[in-house]
Amino acid sequence: MTRRVESVLDSDQRHQFEHDGYVVLPDFVPDSLLDTLRIRIDELVSDYAEGGLPEGAATVFSTTDQTHAQDDWFLTSADAVRPFFENGAFDDDGTQLVPMERALNKLGHAMHDLDPVFDRFSRTPDMAHLATDLGFVEPLLLQSMVIFKPPWIGGEVTCHCDHSFLWTEPRTVVGFWFALDDATVANGCMWAIPGGHTGGARSRFRREGAGTTTDVLDPTPYDMDSLVPLEVAAGTCIAFHGCLPHWSGPNTSDHPRLAYTLHIIDGTADYRSDNWLQRGPDLPLRGFA
Ligand code: FE2
Repeated sequence: MTRRVESVLDSDQRHQFEHDGYVVLPDFVPDSLLDTLRIRIDELVSDYAEGGLPEGAATVFSTTDQTHAQDDWFLTSADAVRPFFENGAFDDDGTQLVPMERALNKLGHAMHDLDPVFDRFSRTPDMAHLATDLGFVEPLLLQSMVIFKPPWIGGEVTCHCDHSFLWTEPRTVVGFWFALDDATVANGCMWAIPGGHTGGARSRFRREGAGTTTDVLDPTPYDMDSLVPLEVAAGTCIAFHGCLPHWSGPNTSDHPRLAYTLHIIDGTADYRSDNWLQRGPDLPLRGFA
């Protein structure tokens, strides 16, 4: 029996991805599934608020000089689900200054392997078909994040491309960005430079010793005037090339801007051993199966 090959992208959408470096897919996530994700995120936030933070989390994010501890919290989060906080969420003593739902910046970086709800969401047939449509041969789900961007507190994410952080040789990383709330200019939607992916990565962030460093490959600053806002409704997926320059502004509205992101690489490429994100042997990367 011949297995039917299903596509998520039509030929125009594939062309758009190649030409612009991204494609916007409205209504990718059904409303019922959006509710499931929001409920799960509420549970996780409540668990942190009522059950307490993982050991050490508050002191890591206190405002005293904790750079090394914060590095460590980040660098060992590849095979964990860990909270990361907005600047100023804790005082010097590690006392939380704002309610949990306004303190959280993101959760990362293995939601898709360790949380059953996000595992199911990240491995739907549509998700696998989307990866196939974008040319993946041996897709591996590398990294996932819930990004909170809370009202008035959620800050800017500077212009970057994801290949700089998740380097494979050759470049294979693609990001899937899911709007869990309507994303607007006011609440800090994603912006991108159409076609900017053809310029390649201008820097590379990597491990060096016990910390990290950034190699500047091309000092030319991104042309911020070329960014266009990607205002999208909740349920939209934006699939974007690993070299696409993207940016998001602060949330200057009363509305949250919740998002989930998933980054895929191809197992046929060489994933660099000095990338910041390194899995331990107990949680090897998996595909969509
Ligand atoms: Fe990014």
